[in-house]
Amino acid sequence: MGGEGWFVMKLLVTGGAGFIGCNFIRYWLKNYPKDKIVNLDKLTYAGHLSSTLDFKDNKNYRFIKASITNTRLVDRIMRDVDIVIHFAAESHVDRSIIGPTLFIKTNILGTQVLLDAALKNKIKRFHYIGTDEVFGSLQLGSDKKFDEETNYDPRSPYSASKAAADHLVRAYFHTYGLPITITNCSNNYGPFQDPEKFIPRMITNLIDGMDLPIYGDGLSVRDWLYVEDHVRAIESVIMGGRLGETYLIGGMTRDISNLDVARKLASIFGKKNSVIKFVKDRAGHDRRYAVDWSKIKNELGFRPRYDFDVWLEKTVDWYRENEWWWRSLKSRAENLYRKTNQY
Ligand code: NAD
Ligand code: DAU
Repeated sequence: MGGEGWFVMKLLVTGGAGFIGCNFIRYWLKNYPKDKIVNLDKLTYAGHLSSTLDFKDNKNYRFIKASITNTRLVDRIMRDVDIVIHFAAESHVDRSIIGPTLFIKTNILGTQVLLDAALKNKIKRFHYIGTDEVFGSLQLGSDKKFDEETNYDPRSPYSASKAAADHLVRAYFHTYGLPITITNCSNNYGPFQDPEKFIPRMITNLIDGMDLPIYGDGLSVRDWLYVEDHVRAIESVIMGGRLGETYLIGGMTRDISNLDVARKLASIFGKKNSVIKFVKDRAGHDRRYAVDWSKIKNELGFRPRYDFDVWLEKTVDWYRENEWWWRSLKSRAENLYRKTNQY
């Protein structure tokens, strides 16, 4: 598969006004300038047309505002599409704890609507964007990592809905022969991430002179990956991944706690660690994620390129230089945390 060189593709990207989706479209239009992209996004609280301004007028790009649960429309849109890259989801664990229903509708039923349409329209590839959270929680201090053989053990309504979607996507491969691939990725950071999520919340709080609210004891560990590395990994799976296969994608190979990330950010801003404030823990908070990405490296030659410390600083620069993008989103984010008492 590939737009550059041998044939031009038409991609349907769902959720392309969200964080990873907009970074994917930006990358793809630059690197595969002949391909056509349709972005189907409902523009929920997490979808921002402001994240698409730099490519919205590209002649090979089209935006459609609608829900992936709209069966008739999804079927119509897919008629002349070659590949579906399915990012659209309710993606925030804290919101899933407050209200799981929408997660079930969007993440499970929405995925099934897309799968049915893909089957009907004989799509050449359906690529599903999964998460490492489906594997549950690893123990602090252990050297265990998730890999493609790890049993599913989702522990939040968000990860349970994403796990169900993984299973559905695989079921459509085995039962109906739909040509699918899945990637399960760890925590992304980078430009255009909503200030509700950890790293942008910390950065925008520091810009605003606010404290850094850390859940629980702050020792939980995430496996951080710069968003463009995720996009490049998806590219390598679309281009060379075997049908029916799942590939895990991860970043850092050593553990780093949320507290350490907050300390690094405070120091970038020249602030003392006293800006860190411990707040109520997340219910069912997963302790540690770590991803073994040997399969994608050995089969497809993919490895992350962007160093965490360097790209964390560049991400800080991006938020400093692009206040126009996040300023109007900040009060909604902090209102959410006032409701959950985590501010
Ligand atoms: P995000 O919340 O920033 O964006 C989600 C996008 O989906 C938004 O633009 C939203 O408007 C859209 N959307 C939501 N419901 C929709 C619906 N019913 N119909 C159409 N569009 C809808 O999410 P993100 O961080 O960019 O994550 C994208 C995908 O990657 C998700 O599937 C998520 O589970 C997965 N993922 C995210 C991370 C991460 O660290 N952010 C890591 C691994 C996997
Ligand atoms: O692992 C991949 C997942 O990463 C994706 O599937 C999700 O879509 C994405 O949101 C992310 O989930 P997390 O729950 O890990 O990300 P979040 O940014 O919400 O939180 C990261 C860690 O930081 C987590 O341990 C909770 C903690 N945290 C978060 C916030 C917002 C804090 O300590 N303080 C905060 O203010």
